Amino acid sequence: MNIFDFQKKKMSGNKISMVTCYDYTSARILAGTSIDCILVGDSAAMTMHGYKDTLSATMEMMRYHTAAVSRGAGDKFIIGDMPFASYRKSLSDNITAAQILMQAGAHAIKLEGAAGNQDFIRHVTESGIPVMGHIGLTPQFMHMLGGFKVQGKTQSGADRLKEDILMLQEAGCFALVIEGVPASLGQELTQLLSIPTIGIGAGPHTDGQVLVLQDLLGLTLDFKPKFVKAFADGHDQFRNGIEAYVQAVNSGGFPEDEHCY
Ligand code: KIV
Repeated sequence: MNIFDFQKKKMSGNKISMVTCYDYTSARILAGTSIDCILVGDSAAMTMHGYKDTLSATMEMMRYHTAAVSRGAGDKFIIGDMPFASYRKSLSDNITAAQILMQAGAHAIKLEGAAGNQDFIRHVTESGIPVMGHIGLTPQFMHMLGGFKVQGKTQSGADRLKEDILMLQEAGCFALVIEGVPASLGQELTQLLSIPTIGIGAGPHTDGQVLVLQDLLGLTLDFKPKFVKAFADGHDQFRNGIEAYVQAVNSGGFPEDEHCY
């Protein structure tokens, strides 16, 4: 994939599949699948570091995870997430933050929100850095949104999102993540844009879908919002494997001759 393939997928009606990833081993597995692209999301703060939200993600954390994913992802297209407030400083600091993710192996960056981001988006795209926007239930704005709440349920909320997506498209984003909006609004927003939309909790009509890897593999026990579907029972598989190992160690069944020098 490259940014033109995203556009081609929208034009041809073929869906875009995106998943988050934060480490080398998982990236190696994804490299051998038909997934279209990988997001090194700031959800790393939660899934990999145990924080309760994404506000704790730092530039160094995102650089570290992007570099690890890039070493395992083969030729997959990687989007590096700009952490909280890292793109709301001086233009020079913002560019340095984007440069860090690109030099760690990202092929594009993602950032949340619309108002106030346009100049930065114009500047980085003119500097060779493709930008994916992210609107709707934007987790970095949780304190402005009053928590993790579905967005665009009122007419004025939906109208604001329509203005935002057009602003992001005009500023130069090559694609947008739309998170946590009613399915009908996900469809309307997708139809308004010439660039592709990738939904999470935004219904079936967006041009693609994204899920957090841990959620889609069924590794997450304590977090199961309505939009998540587990496509594997990863938690039980992990636990059963570990229990089988412990039993084999305890019974002396491991190691066997074939594991010995
Ligand atoms: O960080 C992340 O995982 C994300 C996705 C939920 C889109 O931004």
